[in-house]
Parts: sequence; C-alpha cells; structure tokens
Amino acid sequence: MANIPASQGGRTSLHGQWSSRVAFILAVTGSAVGLGNIWKFPYVAGANGGSAFVLVYLGCILLVGLPVMMSEILIGRRGRRNPVETMTLVGEEEGTSRRWGWVGGLGVIAGVLILSYYSVIAGWSLDFIIESLTGSFQGKSGEEVGAVIEGLKGSWQRSMLWHSVFMGLSVFVVARGVEKGLESAVRFMVPGLLVLLFVLLGYAMTTGAFVEGLTFLFTPDFSALTGDSVLKALGQAFFSLSIGMGAIMAYGAYLPQETSIPSASVTVVLADTFIALLSASIIFPIVFANGLNPGAGPDLVFRTLPLAFGNMPGGIVFSTLFFVLLSFAALTSAIGLMEPAVAWSVERFGLTRRAAAIMIGLVIWIVGIGTALSDNVIADVQILGQSWFGAVDYLTTNIMLPLGGVLITVFAGWFMSANSTSSELGGAGAGFRAWRFLARFVAPVGVLFVLADGTGLLDFVTGG
Ligand code: TRP
Repeated sequence: MANIPASQGGRTSLHGQWSSRVAFILAVTGSAVGLGNIWKFPYVAGANGGSAFVLVYLGCILLVGLPVMMSEILIGRRGRRNPVETMTLVGEEEGTSRRWGWVGGLGVIAGVLILSYYSVIAGWSLDFIIESLTGSFQGKSGEEVGAVIEGLKGSWQRSMLWHSVFMGLSVFVVARGVEKGLESAVRFMVPGLLVLLFVLLGYAMTTGAFVEGLTFLFTPDFSALTGDSVLKALGQAFFSLSIGMGAIMAYGAYLPQETSIPSASVTVVLADTFIALLSASIIFPIVFANGLNPGAGPDLVFRTLPLAFGNMPGGIVFSTLFFVLLSFAALTSAIGLMEPAVAWSVERFGLTRRAAAIMIGLVIWIVGIGTALSDNVIADVQILGQSWFGAVDYLTTNIMLPLGGVLITVFAGWFMSANSTSSELGGAGAGFRAWRFLARFVAPVGVLFVLADGTGLLDFVTGG
C-alpha cells in the first residue's frame, strides 16, 4: 500500500492501491470486458437492426464513453474514497455542494441492481461449463442446442443454484480485497478469452455465411434506427464500459498519482470495443448459417456458440475452456459492480471488507431471485410490459447509467475547476481541451437528448 506524498496533494485510499499502471488497466479492462461484450452486445445489436446500431454504438463510445470514463477516473483519484464519499468531498473542495454525494449513491444502487441479473446470466455460463464437459452440444442441431438453454431457463431450481454459486464466488473474491482478489484474476482471463475468440472466428469463417454476418454488422441501414434503438446503443456503451455508476470512480480511487488517465482510458476503451466487435463477428455468421433469428434475444449467444463448438474438432475442450473463461470475465465484472457498495459500507459503517462483501452479496442475491424466476415461476408477471429481468435491465442500462454519466461529466466539466481537472489529466494541452469540450457540451447534451427521445419524454413535452 503506497502512500501518496503530501507534496502531490493527494489523500490516501483506505483500501490500498493498484501495484502498478498495468494492474489498474487490467482491473478496469476486467470490469469492462464481460458478459456485456460477448452476451449482450450481439443480442442487442441483433434485435436493433445490426449495422446502424453498431455505428451509433461506436459514436457513443467515442463521444460520450471516453470522456465519461476519464471524468470518473479523475474524480475518483481526487477523492480517493467510495463514490458517495468521493463526490461529497470533491464537491465540497471544489466549492460547490456536498449533495453531489447523491450521484455516488445512485451508482451504488445501480451496481446492486445490475449485478442482481448479471449473476443469473453468469450462472448460465457456469452451467454451460458442465454441459460442455459432458458433451451436451456434440453433433447437435440448432434446435437441440436451443433446448439446453430453454431447459435451464425454464427450471427455477437450476437458475437459483447457479445464481447462488456465482454470487458466492463474487463475495469470495471481493472479500479478499483490491490487490489480491482483483488483479490475479484478470491477468490470464483477457488473453485467454482472446485466444478462444480467435479460434471461434476461424470457425465462423468456415460457416459459409461469414460475409453475410459481417454485412449485417457493418453495412449501415439507418431506416432501422428509432429513438429507442439509439437509446439502447447509448445504454449499451455505458454498460459495456462499466461507466455511469461510479465503479470506475471507485477503481480510480486506488490509482497511483503518476499514472496517465487519458492513456489508460484509451487502452481500456479500445480493448473493450474490439472484443465486442469480435464476438459479434463470430455470432452472426453462425446465426445466418443455421437459419437462426438475429433478434432472438438474451439467449442468442447460448444458442450459437455451443452450436459452433458442437460442430468443430476438439469442441469439448474448446467449449469447456470458453465457458470457464466467460465465467471469469463475468466474475471480474461482478467485483467491479460490487466495489462501490462494498467500499461504501466499509467506510460508512466501519465494517470489515469481509462483512461488507457478505452483506452486500446477500442483498444482491435476494434481488436477483426476481431474475432467476423471471423465465419460469413468474414468467407471467409483467412490469410495464416487460419481464422482471427486462424491466431491471431497462431501468439500469438505459436510464440509470446514462443519467449517472451526465451528472458525473457535468460535475467534472462544469463544477470542478479547470485547474483541478487539468492537473489530474496531465496538463492543459489539446487533449485536455478536447476532453473538456466533450465533457461540458457534447456528452451531457447528447445523452439528455437521446434519453428524452428514446423514452418518449421528448414526444410528451413537444406534444408529438
Ligand atoms: N461492463 C460489464 C460488462 O460488459 C458490465 C458492467 C456494467 C459493469 N457496469 C459495470 C462491470 C460496473 C463492472 C462495473 O459485462
């Protein structure tokens, strides 16, 4: 645990510090790369018309995602506390208001809600390790593979079992603390995942529908775009980069003072985007080669990838390895989702890290029961026309994260002095000016507009 010399003006985090710049980048990449890239991106893109969605997504990443991520890290490093306390303290120091702490509070809640369903999907991945090992996918048709995920979703017992196992694992890792728990998991997960994705890409090229798949993804058809799908692209950008809820702010609190925030952010954003595009380039050729529906929804990946594994040489080994790595990717994201809530409980109530992890884990586990039962026991229950899972996902991804992101960039761009922000971002050069322009104008205005348009608020206001 390194202390920051007082000459650099910093506080010391109460939870330790990343051992190096690389460790920080690994941890943020670990939180960013997860089910969002491999499970969510392809199905959301597929359900929203493919290519036009992808282009809007890339625009959101660049114009909104990057500046919000930099804002989160710089605020985190200045405050060096959990997001609630950090926003309170920095708000006070910058002479605005302690009430900014509420933004951190919103993030703590968003993290709990997101992990509540994330854990259920991660549970599917755990279940698929066993299915892979026992050869459930070998030589099977699309329909037979589909029956596996249907069977899992339809069973509340199995859904609950894996949700519980995954939450148990998350609590275990978080309880061990920042350095030991988080760093070690990411070091082999991201490289391993990349290798297997390339194996799958090789398979996708042999399906005969590779070009068709890529065309679907990369030839824009803007007529497919609606206000709602633009909002979903924006939400997906926030979700995939782990921003808008203070998770990256919490990680920034453990960042050594000398690490460059812009270069770390660019690295993470590139890695995350590359992996999302790579998985979509694998999924869609398989979809089209097998006559599957690109808009099939949340189980798309659990239908296509097993099909690929079941029909390639060495499928059992690759399939098992893949779902092991996907589960790890989910785990390194889960700990990021818990970190704001856990750090807050430790600092606010003086709990030990272990007690806090168990308590928060239990809350998330309970909320997650809704999602675990949402395709079986309570499949008929509708909240605003959606399943429980759909409603929690929509509320968090498309509303809470973008809203949190606006508040965070507005705070960094308008309420923090240029002096403070430029000293965190390494000087007042062209890069800084670009960040500040995006953070003050482009990101907040763009997000608010997309939010108002996508939720129908705009129509309501303009009487349209
Ligand atoms: N980015 C993660 C993924 O793509 C999910 C996620 C959303 C997340 N918000 C987060 C992870 C906050 C960690 C922290 O799977």
